[in-house]
Amino acid sequence: MHNTDARLVKQDNVLFAHTVPPVDASDIASINIEYATLTTDIDHPSPGPIVPQSFTTTSPKKVFRAEEIAFRLTPTQPPGIEVKESDPAGFTDTAHPAEIARNASKWGIKSLKEKARLTYQAIATQNKNGTYPYDRYLKNGSNFVTIVETPVTNISKECIVWCTNLYLGLNRNPHIIEVVKSQLDLYGTGCGTSAVSGGFSNKHKELESEIAIWTGKEDAILYPTGFTTNLGAISTIATPNDLIIFDKECHASIIDGIKLSGAQFKTFRNNNPKHLETILEKINPDQFDNIFVLTEAVFGMTGEEAPIAKYCELKNKFPFLLYVDEAHSVGIYGKTGAGYCQHTGCSDQVDFIMGTLSKATASIGGFIACRKEFAAFLRISSNPYMFQACLPPADIIAAIEAIKIIKTTPLLQTKLWGNTRRFRDGLIQLGFNVGNGTSPIVPIFIERDDVLANVCKFLYSRGVYTNWIAYPAVKKNNGRLRFIVSAGHTVEQIEETLSILKEADKQFMIV
Ligand SMILES: Cc1ncc(COP(=O)(O)O)c(C=O)c1O
Repeated sequence: MHNTDARLVKQDNVLFAHTVPPVDASDIASINIEYATLTTDIDHPSPGPIVPQSFTTTSPKKVFRAEEIAFRLTPTQPPGIEVKESDPAGFTDTAHPAEIARNASKWGIKSLKEKARLTYQAIATQNKNGTYPYDRYLKNGSNFVTIVETPVTNISKECIVWCTNLYLGLNRNPHIIEVVKSQLDLYGTGCGTSAVSGGFSNKHKELESEIAIWTGKEDAILYPTGFTTNLGAISTIATPNDLIIFDKECHASIIDGIKLSGAQFKTFRNNNPKHLETILEKINPDQFDNIFVLTEAVFGMTGEEAPIAKYCELKNKFPFLLYVDEAHSVGIYGKTGAGYCQHTGCSDQVDFIMGTLSKATASIGGFIACRKEFAAFLRISSNPYMFQACLPPADIIAAIEAIKIIKTTPLLQTKLWGNTRRFRDGLIQLGFNVGNGTSPIVPIFIERDDVLANVCKFLYSRGVYTNWIAYPAVKKNNGRLRFIVSAGHTVEQIEETLSILKEADKQFMIV
């Protein structure tokens, strides 16, 4: 039993004592509070248990030295105070190290070296516990059954894979692989520079034209990834005199694009056109040069589809340009697979259709499909387009072939949706909370991040590999396992996964 240092941090009205380095709770006799980053005041810090009444909200910030305050870890902590004994700066062994990396500054840890040391330490702790999800590798690349390796713990396990967005399984399509191989001699590997400075080829042009026709827009512009598409396009079309109103669950690339644009912004509640309308009613459009509304078509974290048609209706009442991210819908919705805007008949009203080529089309890259003037504007003024090397020919050719297959093989979509229904129905029958979506992104909501991490570890040990989505991708203790169904999964793989999830539920009482 020993004494340890800790920082007191108030989060969501609960006090956490964060020990650095992490310690085993059963070894601690007492905790010295090094300093507190509280927006509360402790009137009489003294040794002994902290009682909630000691905290008032009168003074903004107070710093305590280690010797000023100490309290014993007793089995009966005062109500309202939760002490997480093994947390380095706010972490349990199973929580997300990104929280340290992202929040350390707010907690008073300013030095980059110290932030990096704590992050590294938290990763090492999780690696030791087998709960760190990121140091795993798919042997021989993405596939629906493959060996998943964890070098740090020396584990190698054959798994059914549920975490790639390869909705149609086209990454293993023999025809696409053959065409790419046959054209590599002619086109070579990388492009060596950006599209505007000589990297562009006839294949790039062919893909842009193909996407424009597919999505029903006048033109399309290619970026090297979906992420840089959002970053590059949004930061170019919007300026500080503009207002962006976006769904608050939008992807990080959209949010980073908004930040980079310097535009003013507001958020509306997830998939809530009423709330969007209320916001639009309250603003004076004359105060802004342009107003944009941004949303995802299918939300990557919940699998829920957005009410795009309702947003389009609002365009009849309010002056705004509509930008829809189709990352999780292009290739899998719509008559020819062009996406959710096609599926809902909204392509004409949506001003910017953004898509990625990394998911259903099993390549890499992103695009904006839009009217020709907007595309010209982006080509000449978007930094991530002008100053970033363009996509290598192999990926362009793979995407072109994938789109051809998607347009002419509706069976692929039929298989995907059949698999999706089978998996979703199976989970619902087992009693899991899968939210309100119907898309191939199937979450299983598990409120406690520590349980979530251990369920994930259990699944891996039983040959089911998927990721847990926790902070910072979603709010804390609002996590979920995410299963991404593909046409590439077999019925046997779906049934086996359901039966292993049933076992997981028995062990961790998820339902
Ligand atoms: C909604 C959304 N937009 C954009 C992206 C970025 O796409 P990419 O990974 O192809 O760069 C993602 C990636 O997952 C996404 O989910």
